[in-house]
Amino acid sequence: MKSKSLLKENRKFAPSVEFLERSNLKSFKANEKDYQKLRTAAQKNPTAYWTKQAKELKWIKPFKTALVWKHPFAKWFVGGKLNASENALDVHLEAHAHKAALIWEGEPGDTRTYTFLQLFLEVNKLANGLKSLGVKKGDVVGIYMGMVPEAVMAMLACARIGATHNVIFGGFSGEALRDRLNDSNAKCLLTQDGAFRRGAPSALKSAVNEVLNHVPSLKKVVVLKRTGQETPMAPGRDHWWHEVVAAQSNSCKAEAVDSEHPLFILYTSGSTGKPKGILHTTGGYLTQVKSSFKTVFGPQEKDLYFCSADIGWITGHSYITYGPLMNGTTVLLYEGAPTHPGPDRFWSLIAHHQVTILYTAPTAIRSFMKLGDEFVLRHNLSSLRLLGSVGEPINPEAWMWYHTVIGKKRCPIVDTWWQTETGAIMISPSPDSVTTKPGTATLPLPGILADVVDQNGKSCKANEGGFLVVKHPWPSMLRTIFGNKERYVAAYWNEYKKQRFYFTGDGARKDQDGYIWIMGRVDDVVNVSGHRLGTAEVESALVAHPKVAEAAVVAKPDDVKGSALVAFVTLKASAKVILDADPSGSTVAAQTIKDELKAWVAKEIGPIAKPDEIRLADALPKTRSGKIMRRLLREMVTTGKASGDTSTLEDFSVLEKLRASDEE
Ligand code: WT7
Repeated sequence: MKSKSLLKENRKFAPSVEFLERSNLKSFKANEKDYQKLRTAAQKNPTAYWTKQAKELKWIKPFKTALVWKHPFAKWFVGGKLNASENALDVHLEAHAHKAALIWEGEPGDTRTYTFLQLFLEVNKLANGLKSLGVKKGDVVGIYMGMVPEAVMAMLACARIGATHNVIFGGFSGEALRDRLNDSNAKCLLTQDGAFRRGAPSALKSAVNEVLNHVPSLKKVVVLKRTGQETPMAPGRDHWWHEVVAAQSNSCKAEAVDSEHPLFILYTSGSTGKPKGILHTTGGYLTQVKSSFKTVFGPQEKDLYFCSADIGWITGHSYITYGPLMNGTTVLLYEGAPTHPGPDRFWSLIAHHQVTILYTAPTAIRSFMKLGDEFVLRHNLSSLRLLGSVGEPINPEAWMWYHTVIGKKRCPIVDTWWQTETGAIMISPSPDSVTTKPGTATLPLPGILADVVDQNGKSCKANEGGFLVVKHPWPSMLRTIFGNKERYVAAYWNEYKKQRFYFTGDGARKDQDGYIWIMGRVDDVVNVSGHRLGTAEVESALVAHPKVAEAAVVAKPDDVKGSALVAFVTLKASAKVILDADPSGSTVAAQTIKDELKAWVAKEIGPIAKPDEIRLADALPKTRSGKIMRRLLREMVTTGKASGDTSTLEDFSVLEKLRASDEE
């Protein structure tokens, strides 16, 4: 990490005159100056800045103390009471009851619109429905759904009664769902019969029926009818959504919860096999989500905002549900695959609904780029005024394509850096006040003390590689890992214990203008198509297979996905016998085993975790103490050879053999 980064990118883009005019803004120079002044003051006294932002929320009882910081445990806006659904919905009923809150398009083309009032009424009914099933304040409710308006309602209904939601991405397998429900001690699950994906109904509830019997805490399951597919229901436990809400009143008092009351748990991958239940609380989270949405997207009355993330990820929590709704912004929600029925579905959605802000991921941008410009050029995208990017570093080539082909050089790009753990955007340009450069998320937002430091915690010099840290607590920071305080401390606060810095796990550099360039993860966490995966998680799924002895999973750079997973696997002797007995000289038998292992990982975790490539090996490179040298494997898949430091390698012949297996 010491070496100077070779990446040279000197292009700079100030916002277009058209963008500024459309927002009725002053000159860029004046905005820039004001914003820098604001940042300087906020950086000097973050707590004062956040106190001011917190006052933008509706508090049922005002808070007394902005921050209680007992390293590494923070409490924000202590003494205050509020409700998240009230801040997202009720607050708009006076001035904006009939403004659209959600515009939804299903994959088959069906659409529904909910005004703030209608969404409010639906959420109230569902909240009463949950109560009627025995769900109480403090209970954990799982949400395993596709991209339907009811998924947003589900989150808000939980919040309304003070239940803690735990959204589990609909693409995860039953096993992954079971583990997350068990770990969080979930009492109730909201799900649906199926969702439309790539032209066909894809089962949700019936695909997980079996595993639901292995969640002892689970008392009630509520099933939304979306596709109408055959769905077995367990009497007493399972209920149809429409029946649960049918008889309910559309008025449910918003429960006043403490600022530090858990709003949600969201599981994410770390560097061990077990996913971490990231815990977010109420007052601080809402404060920073609301304020960052405003700073980064500068919402205007008539905006239609489209975020292509799934509600199963943090982006879907902060910037589909809470951020835009708290700001009274209309959200476009889309159910299906971005390329169904044709490669231009996104662009037709944007043109048809007149989307003004698009927030998507570099991996999506790169795959659209690969499909060809003609699919974009078919549509009139002149409604767009602002573009956002999130999830991984955006390479300058993809940035320029986004800027010219999608944004027609009119729309600023906000490259937003943050994490499940940070809860809200931390580093990003404010589009009317910061000059952008392709490939960097630019500057920390006001009140965020992010920096690039060396191993000793000293700020790096300009363009020197180091580690990205946060030096002062921020309101939407995770509070702990659910049920595992020790892991919370170890994963984020041990690296810079003395300095009391939060360790992000990302490598970065700061350029001469103070812009932060993210260089990627420095731990065993990888970003595959914008999905965060722990290589250890995939390894532990592989070694759970009866034929597998050992597995090491590493990432390989990929043009579209960012990273692809390569799994090195050694088989148990009993499985090797099958290979050796194969008359084709093992190739057919080997392929069968590889396919079997890929399918196994999809079943254990979900299709997103399926290795792109499996290499069967006789042995893995290990240190004398028996640790697998993943670094060598990483080098091997990236450069084709392992030339780095091999001094601790136990058996050199292993490397030769791995190289040979590469050429198969
Ligand atoms: C990791 C967090 C934040 C919501 C989606 C991902 C990478 C995220 C950027 C960006 C470079 C980025 C980092 C980070 N990342 N945004 N704009 N530029 N890298 O959330 O799954 O918690 O992953 O995604 O490596 O640590 P997540």
